[in-house]
Amino acid sequence: MKSFRGMTALVTGASSGLGSEFARQLAQEVSQLLITSRRAERLHALTEELQKQSPHIRVFSIPADLSCQKGREILTDWLAAEKTEVDILINNAGCGDYGPFEECPFERVRSLLELNIVSLTYLTRLVLPDMLKKKRGIIINIGSIVGRKPLPTCAAYSGSKSYVHAFSEALRWEIEGSGVTLTVIAPGPLETEFFMKASRKGTDTKPFVPPFMWVPLKKVVHESLMAAKAGKAFYVPGFYTRIASFLHYLTPSSLLRYIYQLILPIKCRNNSSKDEKITCSLD
Ligand SMILES: NC(=O)c1ccc[n+]([C@@H]2O[C@H](COP(=O)([O-])OP(=O)(O)OC[C@H]3O[C@@H](n4cnc5c(N)ncnc54)[C@H](OP(=O)(O)O)[C@@H]3O)[C@@H](O)[C@H]2O)c1
Repeated sequence: MKSFRGMTALVTGASSGLGSEFARQLAQEVSQLLITSRRAERLHALTEELQKQSPHIRVFSIPADLSCQKGREILTDWLAAEKTEVDILINNAGCGDYGPFEECPFERVRSLLELNIVSLTYLTRLVLPDMLKKKRGIIINIGSIVGRKPLPTCAAYSGSKSYVHAFSEALRWEIEGSGVTLTVIAPGPLETEFFMKASRKGTDTKPFVPPFMWVPLKKVVHESLMAAKAGKAFYVPGFYTRIASFLHYLTPSSLLRYIYQLILPIKCRNNSSKDEKITCSLD
């Protein structure tokens, strides 16, 4: 089991949800913590909180918009200027979108793909060479259970998370035995700002899933860090979520398509006339 002692960790998307919790739990172990996201005031507040709780570590907030190259380069420049090498990368920043795909403004789709795919790939490419040179490093990429089997009503999001899974699995093979490990975490639904932002109208509509599938953030992060320390390739936090995700994964797509037609709230295109606007009752 690896230890995080003496390491420098970079957590993306640390201003809320899973990312804030990763920062809180890592602050108890690492010696330096770098946190990033767009909302500077949230990052500064978290920095103060963590610095009070763990005065022996150094915490830096680096506000940046990771959905554009300029924003990503803020991080690159900061690391170069401070001569800092990252030992633990938590590629957590991500956003969702739900509703009929063709009604989504393309700018929203582009920004989702830039954040969920390009930024995760960019940061991995940025830190990996130094990790390989030092023969030590831990990368955690946050996927999703819908990255294993796609979900209609969130096509671009599912697709982006499938990329996270495929990219991470291939890279994991490439770096096997190098001293650097890569773990993909596939959470189920979480109580964060995620669903409110994924809704095109900003309404906080939660998906209809059984209550036992909502795993507390503390548990998700604790289990994820344990999985990374143990060098696991893939992990679904939460016992029931793990079982549900496994069954979902094993279900043939032809059967899933049939089930989705019955349960998902988007009106089926075949039932609507050509000119009728397709609506989503989730919004
Ligand atoms: N919530 C769920 O049900 C669920 C399920 C499976 C997987 N996940 C994944 O878990 C990860 C964390 O999501 P969460 O649930 O914690 O949601 P969240 O509370 O909305 O957190 C998302 C984080 O990403 C940051 N972010 C968003 N756009 C950004 C941008 N353009 N540049 C930099 N940072 C940006 C946000 O900060 P700023 O707004 O300050 O930039 C925030 O800190 C995501 O990868 C998500 O796909 C979530």
